[in-house]
Amino acid sequence: MYVNTQNVDQIVTEIQHRFKIIGRTKELHQMVLAVKARKHVLIEGEVGVGKTRIAKALAEYMGTTFFRVDGSEDLLSYILVGYFDPPGVIAKGYIEDTFIYGPLARSMLEGGCLFINELNRIPESSQNILLTAFDEGIVEVAKLKTIKAKDSFFVVATQNPEAHVGVTALGEALKDRFVWVHLDYQPAEEEELIVIQEADLSGKRQREIAHLAVRIARGTRNHQDIRRGASVRAAIDIAALVKSNGPVQPEDTESIWMEVAIMALSTKIELMDSVTDSRENIIKEIVLNALQNTPFA
Ligand SMILES: Nc1ncnc2c1ncn2[C@@H]1O[C@H](COP(=O)(O)OP(=O)(O)O)[C@@H](O)[C@H]1O
Ligand SMILES: [Mg+2]
Repeated sequence: MYVNTQNVDQIVTEIQHRFKIIGRTKELHQMVLAVKARKHVLIEGEVGVGKTRIAKALAEYMGTTFFRVDGSEDLLSYILVGYFDPPGVIAKGYIEDTFIYGPLARSMLEGGCLFINELNRIPESSQNILLTAFDEGIVEVAKLKTIKAKDSFFVVATQNPEAHVGVTALGEALKDRFVWVHLDYQPAEEEELIVIQEADLSGKRQREIAHLAVRIARGTRNHQDIRRGASVRAAIDIAALVKSNGPVQPEDTESIWMEVAIMALSTKIELMDSVTDSRENIIKEIVLNALQNTPFA
C-alpha cells in the first residue's frame, strides 16, 4: 500500500492540508498508525467533535475504493452483504448475475475501505456479520459463494459514547477487533479556526463573530444545568446565522446573539432532568456571560 512508503507525520500533514482538517495531529497520527498496521479503527467521541470529517478524510486519503454506510436500526445484514434481486432470481436463478453486492462484500472483495458512520446504531445481527468479516475475513452468501476479503480491506467506524439514547452497546467481541481513537473537544483557538473556515468568515469583525460563537458553544459544556453541551457544530451555526444577519446596531447586539443562540443551541443541548429553568433562559444566561468583555458588548 502507498502509505507504507511514507513517513507517518508526512501523511498526517498531507491529510490535514488536503482535507482542510484543523488540528487533530495526534489523533490523525494514531489513525494512520492503525491503518499502516492493517487494523480497523473505531473513532469515538461526542456529537460534533469531527468524527465523520476525520474518518472520511482518512478513508479518502487511502485512495482505495471507499464505501460508506450510515448506521441505523434499518441497516440489516443483507444490506451490508448484498441480496438477490427477486425478478432476476425468477428469471435466471441464484447466480452471480442476480446478486446485488452490498458495501461490506464489495469492500472485502476489492480490498477497499468500509466506512461505517455511527457503528453503534446498527442492529446486533449486522454486528455479527461484521465479526466474521473481521475475524476470518469471510462472509457467506447462501446459494452463491463465500466472500473472501483481500488483505488491504479495512474498516473505519465512528460512534458516539455509549451513554447516548438510541445506540446499542457494541458487542464486546466486535469492539475487541478494533483499535480505538478518541476525539475530545478541540482547544478554543482551533474551534475558532474551524468556525472561520466552515462558516466562511473573513476579516476582523467576522473573526470576532467566530470567537464569540465559540465562547457561547463552550459555555454550554460544564454548565451545571446541562447534561450534554454543544459542539463546534453549534458554534458554526451561530456564526453563520450572525453572518447572514449582517451588520448590527450596538443596541441590538444582545438580542441578535440571543436569538441565533436559541436557534442554534436548542436542538443541540440536553438539560439535566432536575432542571426547572427553561432552555431559553439557560441559553440567554450563557450568551450574556459570553458577551461580557467582547468587542460586541
Ligand atoms: N478538525 C476539524 N477541522 C475542520 N472542520 C472540522 C473539524 N472538526 C469538526 N469540523 C467540522 O465540524 C462539524 C462537525 O463535525 P462532524 O465530523 O460532522 O462531527 P461528528 O461526526 O463527530 O458528529 C462539521 O461541519 C465538520 O466539518
Ligand atoms: Mg458524524
